[in-house]
Amino acid sequence: MTRNILRKIIGGGVNRAKRKIVKLQRTHIIQAKLKRFYKEDVLIPIESDVNTSDEVSEYWTGHTVHDDWFVSAEESLKYREWIFSVYPYYRVFADMDRKHTGETILDYGCGPGNDLTWYSQKTNPEKIIGIDVSRPALENSQFRMALHGVKKDRCRLIQIDEATPIIPLEDESVDFISCQGVLMHTSFPEKILEEFYRILKSKEGNGDNNVCIMVYNRESIWFHLYVAYYLRYVDSSPIECSLDEAGKMNLDEIFRMSTDGPGCPLARCWSPDNFLKMCKDAGFCKVVYQGGYPNSLEPKLAKKYITEALADERVEEEHKTFLRGIQFDENDYPINTERISCCIGGVYRLWK
Ligand SMILES: C[S@@+](CC[C@H](N)C(=O)[O-])C[C@H]1O[C@@H](n2cnc3c(N)ncnc32)[C@H](O)[C@@H]1O
Repeated sequence: MTRNILRKIIGGGVNRAKRKIVKLQRTHIIQAKLKRFYKEDVLIPIESDVNTSDEVSEYWTGHTVHDDWFVSAEESLKYREWIFSVYPYYRVFADMDRKHTGETILDYGCGPGNDLTWYSQKTNPEKIIGIDVSRPALENSQFRMALHGVKKDRCRLIQIDEATPIIPLEDESVDFISCQGVLMHTSFPEKILEEFYRILKSKEGNGDNNVCIMVYNRESIWFHLYVAYYLRYVDSSPIECSLDEAGKMNLDEIFRMSTDGPGCPLARCWSPDNFLKMCKDAGFCKVVYQGGYPNSLEPKLAKKYITEALADERVEEEHKTFLRGIQFDENDYPINTERISCCIGGVYRLWK
């Protein structure tokens, strides 16, 4: 017994020490590469005209989606591919394998550069632009672009102000915009959509879409089951409050706390009808809802809790109606039409 406990303590200590050594080695490699990039003057400058500090920018400055820097181009691309393996339908819905030869691409809300990496390495654009409110995220993107050998004349990185929703790019200067998991966290999504419209080149005819956006989908397992049932009546610890407190909150508030950390100041969700209307109001002539892909929890939640939620009389009819329509496809993904459209990752394609 005592020996087991000792082994546990020493074993844990050894693992901790190993992790510390690996971390130190990684920091050493990153610092050496950074020094070399400075010396060779290959780091893409971060353009910034930010002079206010607001709650949203502050949150994302402290909570970048991937804090750690990559030590090599191979590791950086591998991570991007790993995300595809976790969200395979994201790759399909967002048409990530489409070539953008000769195009200028904007990744709005680029974060630590996952999509910048993909677009620059796999889709052959002439130029890529990453915009974000978070300086640390842009610095991660900057290092990543240098790891991948992306030249200064092929990339711009721009830090903007959340409070001033103006994109510092010329009218009709961009061929394609990708905006994944961003607009629902912003204070002025309608204005940003209008800005997208302004900076996009007009396209003749019925070609490919020129914007792809992912926003949280209200018509989802996440909203109607996780928020409306699980967090209110089963376990509210993921949003760091008691069931009693959760029971008194409105669903939008619970939703906000449920996705990107309880402290995330803004996290909204839109039904496809509402978001399609927002895009049309910004001027886009055609908008198509591709579907709502699942995060890693939704299929499991759906399998385990739909029957329970349907039997619980505290759950409102609106949610039960949605949950009654859920079936499962051959891969156990929840569906409510022929395609996967009932999960949180709502993907839209827009044409100017
Ligand atoms: C959930 S992360 C998504 C990052 C990236 N698009 C991805 O898919 O990995 C949301 C990103 O939006 C950025 N963001 C928040 N508000 C913004 C705004 N008003 N304008 C531009 N980016 C913003 C955050 O800093 C953060 O990097």
